[in-house]
Amino acid sequence: MNSAPLPPPALSLSAIQALALDDMAQVDALIRTRLASDVVLINQVGEYIIGAGGKRLRPMLLLLAARALGHRGEDSHQLAAVVEFIHTATLLHDDVVDESDLRRGRRTANAVWGNAASVLVGDFLYSRSFQLMVELERMEVMRILADTTNAIAEGEVLQLLHVRNPDTDEAAYLRVIERKTAVLFAAATRLGALLAGTDAATQQALHDYGLNLGYAFQIADDVLDYASDAATMGKNLGDDLAEGKATLPLIHAMAWADAPLRERLRAIVEQADIGALPEVLAAIQAADALAYSRSRASTYAQAAEAALQGLPESEGLAALRGLARYAVTRDR
Ligand code: IPE
Ligand code: IPE
Ligand code: MG
Ligand code: MG
Repeated sequence: MNSAPLPPPALSLSAIQALALDDMAQVDALIRTRLASDVVLINQVGEYIIGAGGKRLRPMLLLLAARALGHRGEDSHQLAAVVEFIHTATLLHDDVVDESDLRRGRRTANAVWGNAASVLVGDFLYSRSFQLMVELERMEVMRILADTTNAIAEGEVLQLLHVRNPDTDEAAYLRVIERKTAVLFAAATRLGALLAGTDAATQQALHDYGLNLGYAFQIADDVLDYASDAATMGKNLGDDLAEGKATLPLIHAMAWADAPLRERLRAIVEQADIGALPEVLAAIQAADALAYSRSRASTYAQAAEAALQGLPESEGLAALRGLARYAVTRDR
């Protein structure tokens, strides 16, 4: 009897978290101890944002990538802490640039301590991550992370150039999110493969998985910015519009609008007119732009899963597939 091949197994988020629990506890302990400085304000701001939680997705991806390829160990904890430090540094900077006042369900660090403190503590976290990565004394690790942090900075500047620019199209949007978000996911999963001592092709496969997951994750984030609420997301609804940032839902709505509506939407972007959020939401709905964006995110998530094809089946691999699905179904 012929039967269709079974879909490959994927773990749920709770199963993934259970699988990574012991390793993540060690990563968290490392993050806490290595956050310390004798400069009081650094501890205050650092504890404040790190202690607010966060999904810890990037360190989890690094650990699980290593584990899917048969590796567990202190070096993976160390690099998992490094990627979370880098991520946290970008959040401190991002909230200043975006003038956001809510993150992880709390007032942002810039709202509490001001922009200068946020930027400088972000710099502290960046440079602390370099101290941690250097301790491993592996040139390839340092090269990957140096290239990655540099690309993130480029992505943020590229995004700045598109602020209040109604000509931002999907291709330009994708170029920004690749650098500002996807490259760090790619680095996390590639580093996991590197620590596991795998060959170049496997490292590339894990890189491709992480990169596609990163695209999916950021598109999903940009959907939530229009579709969720502050209590669920821990961030304010409409932050992207308030900043004059045209993300995929709005880009798609502009592309589909008739000429008068398009002109109106262009003016809203140019003025970063958050007061027009109801109008924008109506245009997004009329163009079915959230469904379109979700489907683009799903395509990237599927490409992420496809990159794992041919790797030996394991719980770690099922967890990576589960995270690809979670990236596009999450509500925070
Ligand atoms: C927020 O990342 C920044 C984006 C790339 C969208 P996360 O959604 O992973 O933030 P935390 O760490 O869980 O708060
Ligand atoms: C992600 O973009 C920025 C970084 C990669 C730091 P967003 O501006 O959408 O992130 P959130 O929504 O503020 O977390
Ligand atoms: Mg932001
Ligand atoms: Mg966002």
